[in-house]
Amino acid sequence: MRKSVETEFEGITLYPGFLDGSGQRALLAAVLEGLTAEKPYRPRMPRTGKPWSIHQMNFGPLGWVSQPEGYGYAELNEASGRPWPPIPPLLLDIWAEVANYPAPPECCLVNLYDAPKSRMGLHRDEDEAALDAPVVSISLGDTCVFRVGGFARGDKSRSFRLASGDVLVLGGASRLRYHGVDRVIPGSSTLVPGGGRINLTLRRVTKPA
Ligand code: SIN
Ligand code: FE2
Repeated sequence: MRKSVETEFEGITLYPGFLDGSGQRALLAAVLEGLTAEKPYRPRMPRTGKPWSIHQMNFGPLGWVSQPEGYGYAELNEASGRPWPPIPPLLLDIWAEVANYPAPPECCLVNLYDAPKSRMGLHRDEDEAALDAPVVSISLGDTCVFRVGGFARGDKSRSFRLASGDVLVLGGASRLRYHGVDRVIPGSSTLVPGGGRINLTLRRVTKPA
């Protein structure tokens, strides 16, 4: 059995160091290969069109997109007109081990954070029909300060760190909790060339048949 930590939030489980150094390097190589096929882009906020402080890309049959028209899932990368690259098998293995769900993920959202300027405001992952499936988050590179709140934006929240190789499962009673990334700690890891943090979130979007 993997070492896991039940957090104070029912349905949120942290697996510290799920990937060891060689596991992190292997996953990074697979992710960077996918990112050479399609170039990460800067998403824009709904309505205002303001650019985010991170870059994004997707792997899998569906990609999560933030556009002036709103948030949602798309089969094609609008920037290239092509499908998203496939989800690396190493990530499908992680899902199979921790998601406890009878179907594979359909989306891997890749969030690329520069340290120290990128952050992600509190939000809920609610664009998926399969809300019975967890979101599985894998972190590579610099450590971040991750914040988890309640079910309304102003609810009490608390933060903890996510380091390279950590896996976090957000599911069950906490599937719709607010969460976000306060900041990324520069120089906290040497894994990613040039520094920064890569977060991979695996999502089941449609209800399995
Ligand atoms: C997300 O909520 O989509 C990303 C979380 C993270 O970067 O850890
Ligand atoms: Fe999220």
